[in-house]
Amino acid sequence: MKILLTGGAGFIGSAVLVALLKRGEEVVVVDAFEETLYPRWRKEKNLEWARTFGDFEFHEVDIRDADSMSALVTPELNAIIHLAAVAGVRPSIEKAPLYFDINVTATSLLLELGRKAGLERFVLASSSSVYGNNTKVPFAETDDVSNPISPYAASKYALEVLSKTHVNLHGGHVSCLRFFTVYGPRQRPEMAMHKFMDLIAKGEAVPMFGDGRTARDYTYIDDIVSGVIATLDRPDGFKVYNLGGDRVVHLDELIATIGRIVGREPVIQKLPMQPGDVPLTNADLTISRAELGYDPQTTLEAGLEAMWQWYQTFEVR
Ligand SMILES: NC(=O)c1ccc[n+]([C@@H]2O[C@H](COP(=O)([O-])OP(=O)(O)OC[C@H]3O[C@@H](n4cnc5c(N)ncnc54)[C@H](O)[C@@H]3O)[C@@H](O)[C@H]2O)c1
Repeated sequence: MKILLTGGAGFIGSAVLVALLKRGEEVVVVDAFEETLYPRWRKEKNLEWARTFGDFEFHEVDIRDADSMSALVTPELNAIIHLAAVAGVRPSIEKAPLYFDINVTATSLLLELGRKAGLERFVLASSSSVYGNNTKVPFAETDDVSNPISPYAASKYALEVLSKTHVNLHGGHVSCLRFFTVYGPRQRPEMAMHKFMDLIAKGEAVPMFGDGRTARDYTYIDDIVSGVIATLDRPDGFKVYNLGGDRVVHLDELIATIGRIVGREPVIQKLPMQPGDVPLTNADLTISRAELGYDPQTTLEAGLEAMWQWYQTFEVR
């Protein structure tokens, strides 16, 4: 297959890129090294790592740039995997227009360019954040998600609505993947696990927002990648799938586990809950198991151990 992969220099994107290269696919990567969350050099390192698995075309292009994108979305493509976005709940509260510009308007452009090129297969990154303060657990794809509590969540919900509209009007296959907190080697440095590992390794205080009883369904990067690839292989009209880790972990337990793996007792600084943060995420995997054969394999301990191994070679400055 020839696949256009947006956001391929990012954390999840570079891991998906490696999986595609291992399968022998021809990949065209687009990334603008957008720096709202973290610096360009880390993304260049991700691409460097991916290059050790094979060759791919790379274009430093902003997905909002219609002219450049229309030159890349050609009839030779078999599919688009669209992961480029500004992620992160908290920064979205200050930067809602940017989040909508990149996550929504540019996605609409991509769907439209794909349609014009006769392309039928799209896999898009959504997020577990669409579930907001959902109190029904576990969170199922059929739950009402029309009550987002951050601009980031709203942008991903809008992406799903756009995708459904696209399929209603034009047919084809658009799958939106609700990733549940992804972790592992190359995780974005502003994400909690990466920050906690860094602070504990340096013997610095770990800010703990809330009483430690907030909980997340953490998903190891290899499991997410297997879900993305399974989705690519199973086009089925408009679809939404949860991709989670199949286990919920409380924040205090997470910090203690990282401490054990790093070999240092964490020093905890208790802080109030942050606006936009949700108390719990918990994926119902019934649909993704049945339709994608998705089956997350990595325990939290094994995933954190792999991340720690990576951290020690990569982050030592
Ligand atoms: N990491 C998670 O836990 C998580 C959870 C839910 C959803 N997601 C979604 O998964 C996707 C990948 O997330 P990630 O954690 O790898 O983030 P990331 O920031 O590492 O990757 C996103 C990539 O998109 C690129 N990008 C941003 N704006 C762009 C633009 N205008 N033009 C071209 N490229 C642009 C960035 O440079 C970056 O390399 C995102 O859509 C994110 O919203 C991630």
